[in-house]
Amino acid sequence: MINIFHNDTFVINTKGTTYAFRVLKTGQLEHLYYGPKIHVDEDTDLAEKHSNIPGNTVSYNSENNSFSLEDIDLEASFYGKGDIREPMIEAVAFDGSTTLDFVYDSYAVLDEKPKFETLPTSYVEKSENQAGVKIPNKSDNGADAEKNHGSTLQIIMIDKNHGFTLKLFYTAFENEDVITRSAIFINSTNQKVILKRAMGALIDFPEAEYKITSFHGGWANEMNRCDTVLTGGKFVNSSFTGTSSSRNNPLTLMAHADATEDSGVVFGFNPVYSGNHYTAFEVNSFGKTRVVCGINPSSFSWTLYAGEEFEIPEVVMTVSNHGYNGVSQNFHHFVSKHIVRGFWRDKERPVLLNSWEANYFAISEDKLLRLAKKSAEAGIELFVMDDGWFGHRNDDKSSLGDWTENKKKLPHGLKGLSEKIHKMGLKFGIWIEPEMISVDSELYKKHPEYAIEIPDMAHSEGRNQRLLDLTNPEVTDYVIEKISDVLGSAEIDYVKWDMNRIFSDIYSRYLPYERQGEVLHRYVLGFYRLASALTKKFPEILFEGCAAGGNRFDLGALCYFPQIWGSDDTDAAARIDIQGGLSFGYPQSTYTAHISASPNHQTLRQIPFSSRADVAFFANFGVELNLLDLSKDEFDKLKEKITFYKKYRKVFQFGDFYRGRQGNIIEWTVVSPDKKTALGMIFERETHPSMPHLTFFPKGLDPEKKYHFYNIPEKVSIKEFGDLINAAGLPVHVKPDSLLVNTVDKFYKLDGDKEDAVKYGDTLMNAGQRLSEAYSGTGINNVRLFKGFDARVYIIEAEN
Ligand code: GLA
Repeated sequence: MINIFHNDTFVINTKGTTYAFRVLKTGQLEHLYYGPKIHVDEDTDLAEKHSNIPGNTVSYNSENNSFSLEDIDLEASFYGKGDIREPMIEAVAFDGSTTLDFVYDSYAVLDEKPKFETLPTSYVEKSENQAGVKIPNKSDNGADAEKNHGSTLQIIMIDKNHGFTLKLFYTAFENEDVITRSAIFINSTNQKVILKRAMGALIDFPEAEYKITSFHGGWANEMNRCDTVLTGGKFVNSSFTGTSSSRNNPLTLMAHADATEDSGVVFGFNPVYSGNHYTAFEVNSFGKTRVVCGINPSSFSWTLYAGEEFEIPEVVMTVSNHGYNGVSQNFHHFVSKHIVRGFWRDKERPVLLNSWEANYFAISEDKLLRLAKKSAEAGIELFVMDDGWFGHRNDDKSSLGDWTENKKKLPHGLKGLSEKIHKMGLKFGIWIEPEMISVDSELYKKHPEYAIEIPDMAHSEGRNQRLLDLTNPEVTDYVIEKISDVLGSAEIDYVKWDMNRIFSDIYSRYLPYERQGEVLHRYVLGFYRLASALTKKFPEILFEGCAAGGNRFDLGALCYFPQIWGSDDTDAAARIDIQGGLSFGYPQSTYTAHISASPNHQTLRQIPFSSRADVAFFANFGVELNLLDLSKDEFDKLKEKITFYKKYRKVFQFGDFYRGRQGNIIEWTVVSPDKKTALGMIFERETHPSMPHLTFFPKGLDPEKKYHFYNIPEKVSIKEFGDLINAAGLPVHVKPDSLLVNTVDKFYKLDGDKEDAVKYGDTLMNAGQRLSEAYSGTGINNVRLFKGFDARVYIIEAEN
């Protein structure tokens, strides 16, 4: 609901949040409030009191000497008129001057959320009536004139110095407690202007000492949570890889110092953008915190001629007074319904097997078919052939750009393979990397100018490949055509869209000198055009994004790809942090997780089969294993795991996700919207022998409902105990891996831990469920065997 008072105060409410700003008499927009919902009516005064200009600050103009823009909470701000904090827009005008003086011009409430032409944005479904607008109209017999105008407020600001126009958009998502902001800069002059900085949102909070949470890492090590308490100066979370990056994911949170997982006020910000992003938190000398979010201004510039416009990426903002879990759930609900779109949005995602860690580049039709046959037997639904099927690609040094089957590996082509795989009752998917070109390729021979490189200068290679110049529409059109041919050539149900290198040698032969600062943003726009064309042309293909794992995990990519491969690290212990990190801003259905070999290929860590599966369940579950190498025992276990996952996958993929403890013990719970079914997981990193007792605390249950809490007990191999079996009173000494032990192990197993309780939701959530005692140096039957990096999944079902 948008309320407008006195034509100068704007109050945007969602179910649980309020956002307010007003027009100052000097024309700037003063930010009044963003936080948990409050009552604001026509007479509510939220403004800060200013009657004297502070210290050596600059007053905006001599008629208004009571304040400086440096000490006002603003909604949009620019450099040169006294405010020296992070600006929203920077531009070099035709005369070389850089001072912008934007003031309020007008507002409008739009019937529909405006669509951007160049960038993806969140969307409101036609059938939804997210919010209305209320404009008290006293002339109308004092009655409120209430119109259901839709949910977007547009504010127009005009630059008094040169005449540029800035449109600000605010869209309220009532049920998700999200407000999005975006902006369009218009060169409404008849001279050219060079845009140097473009932020979609700027907000000033009157206080400091917020705790900023951001997510960092790198390849195979994404989404590590970092907390920074900002008492002064600046904290910037930005990327410079050309993508949103695994180094610094664009999601940031800002919390009151006392916020916990479930209580306290936490804000969240995330741009809908896949390129170099920038979110800065700045505390100024008046103890105010400014947040700006948009395109990284480093190495960015954009020339606009008379009448041209520049769309600035949308920023998704949310706030909750239910702590980090509250903010995460707002993001989850919003991303699921207003970012992810199309055929697959609400559909349960298939259990897939991906051939990468089973075969790497060494694939052939024969090998794949053998793997596919086993996949079908295991209950897998979708078989994905990863890299290595095209050109003469046997390693990562060649063939990107040559999207024709390698007939030595696939004598019957994609079509033949796909037919055979479908006959086994499986869906079929392929890996592509459409944005790339190998120097060793036919395409490069024909069109070296399609690559991003600086002619006649040495190139810094990344994974032995170069980026295609998607700033050039001819290149993008070419890729659309070639990939369309591939996707149309066989029955293809799924595509893993990879992007394995970051930018270097940034230059486009297509663009003139003055536009080279546009390359990175134009590339992102080219990528969006490519992704849009292909996903529209093949609407039922399930596209999974990937960029060497999570190097492009962002809301922009999720507008095209309903799911993304969050990391190349498939080790369950690493995944606990990666999936846990992703859970702060992205719903489980947007990331995939695969059970893989042990020792794990990335870390060489050994983790029990069940624990590997249990962690991967809390996402779109898949398998990345050579099934032909599994023991019968493991294969049977996998089958059981897949059957179990399929039974509960709706809750795993689309249920409400709650984080519990996150130290040595990690707890996750997913709960169905009707709170009838929940699944919980406990994971212990390090085990200590003197601490055999663990309590699992589920979250999100209905306190008044009675639940059956149980697990599916597993048999335990005597081999788990190594040479300790000699201490169990055997008449002879046996060697741990001897024929005797292996034979006994085949026929005799110990009982594993079993949980079986019926309790009310409030009892489970507050008193927790005391789990079976862990093995702790003595006793081997009925014990919970946690050796370190172990997990258990619990089923929590409401009784009728
Ligand atoms: C990237 C992906 C992997 C795999 C390889 C293939 O590294 O992240 O999952 O597809 O490329 O080359």
